Amino acid sequence: MGAGIAEVLARGDLAVVGIEVNADALERGRGHLERSTGRAVKRGRLTEEGQREILDRITLSVDFTDLGECDLVIEAVPERLDLKRRVFAELDRVCRDDAVLASNTSSLSVTDIAVTTGRPTKIVGVHFFNPAPVMKLVEVIRTVLTEPEAVERVAALVDGLGKTAVTIGDRAGFVANRLLFGYLNQAATMLESGHATRDDIDTAMKAGAGLPMGPFALMDLIGLDTCLEILEAVHAESRDRRHAPSPALRERVTAGLLGRKSGHGFYVHDGQGSPDEPAEHDAETPAPIVGVLGTGPLADAVAAHCGRAGGQVRTTAAELGDCDLVIECAQDAEAGRALLVAAAESAKEGAVLAVTSATVPVIEQAMATGRPGDVVGLHLPEADGTLAEIAATVVTAPGVADRAAALAGRLGLTTVRCRDRAGFIVDALRFPYLNDAAAMLGAGYAGADAIDAAMTLGCGYPSGPIADLDRLGLDRAVTVLRALYAETRDPAFAPTPLLAEHVTAARPLR
Ligand code: CAA
Repeated sequence: MGAGIAEVLARGDLAVVGIEVNADALERGRGHLERSTGRAVKRGRLTEEGQREILDRITLSVDFTDLGECDLVIEAVPERLDLKRRVFAELDRVCRDDAVLASNTSSLSVTDIAVTTGRPTKIVGVHFFNPAPVMKLVEVIRTVLTEPEAVERVAALVDGLGKTAVTIGDRAGFVANRLLFGYLNQAATMLESGHATRDDIDTAMKAGAGLPMGPFALMDLIGLDTCLEILEAVHAESRDRRHAPSPALRERVTAGLLGRKSGHGFYVHDGQGSPDEPAEHDAETPAPIVGVLGTGPLADAVAAHCGRAGGQVRTTAAELGDCDLVIECAQDAEAGRALLVAAAESAKEGAVLAVTSATVPVIEQAMATGRPGDVVGLHLPEADGTLAEIAATVVTAPGVADRAAALAGRLGLTTVRCRDRAGFIVDALRFPYLNDAAAMLGAGYAGADAIDAAMTLGCGYPSGPIADLDRLGLDRAVTVLRALYAETRDPAFAPTPLLAEHVTAARPLR
């Protein structure tokens, strides 16, 4: 991270002094800088001369006194308060009195660091995101002691680097990590409980929520030890069970499986590329005959999708006789059950009967029919998207979920599997994260623009959580959260009052 930050500053035409703890670490830092800028040269994003200029702007040293003339010092040492305090004591000694001292901490309290220095008014947080040269967000953290001028200077410098500064107070996880890590940890818990596999969860979040990486690939990028530290710090403040580090994470850290940096985390990183790409379906196999039952936007979108994929679409119970797959797309559970019962009576033997709601257990709908063994959940997190989540129940007959996945594949859908649990994968992971964002907004820690910028610019999300809530519908968010709460009785899943209030008032968050 230190090398990444040095590169960002040098790319911004600033003279940089990079300090490392010893000569070996210094060489590793130099290697990082050369590889990262070299990669940009290879991609034609930087000339060799440009690379040389960037590297020439960085002086590497193991001597703290070389920082004597710096206007700003950014500390990026490991996340241990005793170590940070020692480093800041040294910086306090060698730096000019008017120099601003910043910590890139992602989990420790900036105030805790500030109070042990002789210049608490000049201590700020500057939190970069991984990989620092790519991610556009920098969180600038002011403590209750920081003077406004120090914050303004740092925010202006960040803007001058072509990044976006979001200035916020000193709370564990700040904005982005506070929202990101509840989700990452919940994904690890989902894996731990056997709800879905690593690959299915990663694929679901990319294909179903448009994220640049799935949670396990991202934890490997961040470093599992760092993830654990951040979760411990956030949990110490929030006391929210969703932040209590999952054993799936802790076990790997104890075993030294730290992610990309150690070559093995949730994935093995052997340069062979990500193994989680969805399998291609066979284009030669004819598209299936599909019954799409129900009225409303979901039914329309599913029928349109099946038609575009070349499938023959039937829309009434009387026409279901030759269907390979019947998808119930009713607008509420009761209507859906009635349609499913009718479909079970008229569909041919061997047809798969699919339930689309992720808020009513599939098993409840299946048991209402005379053929529960043929029923699976088939959830489309985005009605017009390309991901289908398939859930088998405890009574789904062997091979039926495989047939459902094959049929959905022939309709051009990417499929993932999970157990019959509220929210399947995507909704179960995204709505609690969105709820956290609404709670943060409700608490006044950050505004809607700052929250959305944190997730789009810091974590590469296609849109921010407040915009997502308005797009997906606050009533849908509340319905999914209530289903998750009913299933788990975990208070963290209860809809935050701001959401419930906006639903009652029929007003979007923005
Ligand atoms: N260092 C420097 N540049 C890098 C890089 C790295 N490690 N990884 C990728 N890049 C650059 C590439 O050179 C490329 O640049 P150009 O477009 O100029 O050629 C660009 O990033 C895209 O790279 P790729 O095409 O190889 O890969 P991609 O499109 O899959 O993007 C990614 C990779 C940018 C990492 C993207 O997957 C992403 O945005 N992932 C989410 C990352 C994220 O959430 N980060 C925040 C984590 S939380 C955190 O860091 C805070 C904390 O406290 C722990």
